[in-house]
Amino acid sequence: MACTIDIRDLEVVLNGEVILKDLNLSFERGLYQIIGPNGSGKTTLLRTILGLIKPSRGKIILDGEDITGKPEKANKIGYMPQLSNEIPLTAFEIVLDSLLLHRKRFPRFARRRDFEKAMETLKSVHLPEDRWKKLFGELSGGERQRVLLARALVYDPEVLLLDEPLSSIDPLGKVEFVEMIGKLSRDKTILVTSHDPILFLDYTKEIVVLNRTFYRVGKPEDILTLEILGEVYGESAVKLEEHVHISDAH
Ligand SMILES: Nc1ncnc2c1ncn2[C@@H]1O[C@H](COP(=O)(O)OP(=O)(O)O)[C@@H](O)[C@H]1O
Ligand SMILES: [Mg+2]
Repeated sequence: MACTIDIRDLEVVLNGEVILKDLNLSFERGLYQIIGPNGSGKTTLLRTILGLIKPSRGKIILDGEDITGKPEKANKIGYMPQLSNEIPLTAFEIVLDSLLLHRKRFPRFARRRDFEKAMETLKSVHLPEDRWKKLFGELSGGERQRVLLARALVYDPEVLLLDEPLSSIDPLGKVEFVEMIGKLSRDKTILVTSHDPILFLDYTKEIVVLNRTFYRVGKPEDILTLEILGEVYGESAVKLEEHVHISDAH
């Protein structure tokens, strides 16, 4: 199984505004970070890969197959959306429903195997069992992120798109979450958007810096430089780059 994604000459226009333009990227097994300020188009890129946004130009190729604008072809892709707390379901229901919705064949109702698979997946993301029957809104930020990860993992996708998976997690929880995703990247293609490129650094193959129609892609050491970060983050790049050096030191 290859799990490669090729993005070719992608252009996305939303409400008459060009959000992404002339974007060419290739991903294979391993972890890739997509960084950039708020509004730079990170979520738009992930949703376009999933086929939820139709690009005005260009193609999304998954393992050699053109899946542009075809969400039904995106079955190999697990998607963890940016965190929101308004889901009126329990943790267990969210994961089980995701499994059932991804079933190509009927019946879509749950069988014993499905319950077992949902439980197994919640265990694999280390969500304590006493949380499974809680409503999503009653869970902590870190617990919600685990539920959303389990929701994406339950149908065994080869590709994972994770939109700011570390937001609302406390510092210790972030480290644990990063390790979990790092382990998954051994045999999956993972795209992670984040505001802090340092946390995933140990597992990162390449970083894409995105700011609307501007982007750069490369190895972390070639991307996390003042020059490139400055083009996207302006003044605050100095802080970000200092942070990289601080992290390098230990
Ligand atoms: N459905 C939409 N319709 C119109 N504009 C949108 C839509 N979704 C996002 N945008 C705009 O596209 C830009 C990029 O947004 P987004 O991809 O969410 O950025 P990021 O995830 O990097 O913060 C923003 O200016 C946002 O307002
Ligand atoms: Mg976003």
